[in-house]
Amino acid sequence: MKFKVLVTRDIPDEGIKLLKRDKRVELEIYEHDKPIPRKELLKRVKGKDIILSILTEQMDKQVMDAAGPQLKMIANFAVGFDNVDVAEAKRRGIMVTNAPHEMVSEAVAEHTIALMFALAHRIVETDAYTRAGKYHAWGPKMLLGTGLSNKTIGIIGAGRIGGAVVKRLHDGFNMKILYNNTKRDERLEQETGAKYRSLNQLLKESDIVSLHVPLLPSTRGMIGAKEFKLMKKTAFIINTARGPVIQEKALTQALMSGEIAGAGLDVYECEPLIDCNPNDRIELRKMNDVVLTPHTASATIEARQAMSRVSAENILAFIKGKTPPNQVK
Ligand code: DGY
Repeated sequence: MKFKVLVTRDIPDEGIKLLKRDKRVELEIYEHDKPIPRKELLKRVKGKDIILSILTEQMDKQVMDAAGPQLKMIANFAVGFDNVDVAEAKRRGIMVTNAPHEMVSEAVAEHTIALMFALAHRIVETDAYTRAGKYHAWGPKMLLGTGLSNKTIGIIGAGRIGGAVVKRLHDGFNMKILYNNTKRDERLEQETGAKYRSLNQLLKESDIVSLHVPLLPSTRGMIGAKEFKLMKKTAFIINTARGPVIQEKALTQALMSGEIAGAGLDVYECEPLIDCNPNDRIELRKMNDVVLTPHTASATIEARQAMSRVSAENILAFIKGKTPPNQVK
């Protein structure tokens, strides 16, 4: 039996090579480095057995209808799968997989730490200052930042990525670590000295708060005005998880009023917009105490090739009648 597979974007080639090697795979690739237009997607999914999807595409009822009843699998090229209507897929008996890999956790952990240090050492601001030709003389009080040694970091969500952040900060930077998670992780506690706290307590005690939860109904908007009020005035918040976990308007207000000291963001509530409402005069892009990156936390060659391989391996396992290693349940 042949399996018609649609890859909805030009992805790193390792997974594509694996798929091309398998005679049962009939491959169609939308070979562009930009999101497939919705109309084109609905046209191309027709008659496909498997869709290898990217997080910029909503894999919803309409796509499943447009594909047809033979659609058997959605292999998402991401760790997160909030772009897939998993409940609807389950109802139709469609297998859903995601693409976690140690390389991806490492890349996102490194990016989280890079944002943290960029904020603490005011890297973006001082780079702009230097480029603007403002550096005329060294000064003992010039552009003071904050040291991170002995500071307390609060990790919200201590799964693969949160855990990777904890290990690096504990081993390399001498930081105190608090975490909040759906379950306590005794191994993490023993290995890193991390201490479990309730969410509110973690927010009160941490100098840096870093988010590593998936986007679920229970985490959507979990950090808002009330939570920012609990945080220290000197604290930074880092988000490399999903934008809507933070209520962005509450964040911009907390930054403007000095309720917190800064934010390092890789994801946005109304992504790819940086502000949901850029006309409300509280633009994140104009603030000095934020560092903004365009959802590139996992954008290392190693991580993206790993995601490509993992997505293909999920598909090939499914074709062989096996349970894919990364089934989303
Ligand atoms: C993911 O995998 O979920 C990241 O957000 C994109 O790489």
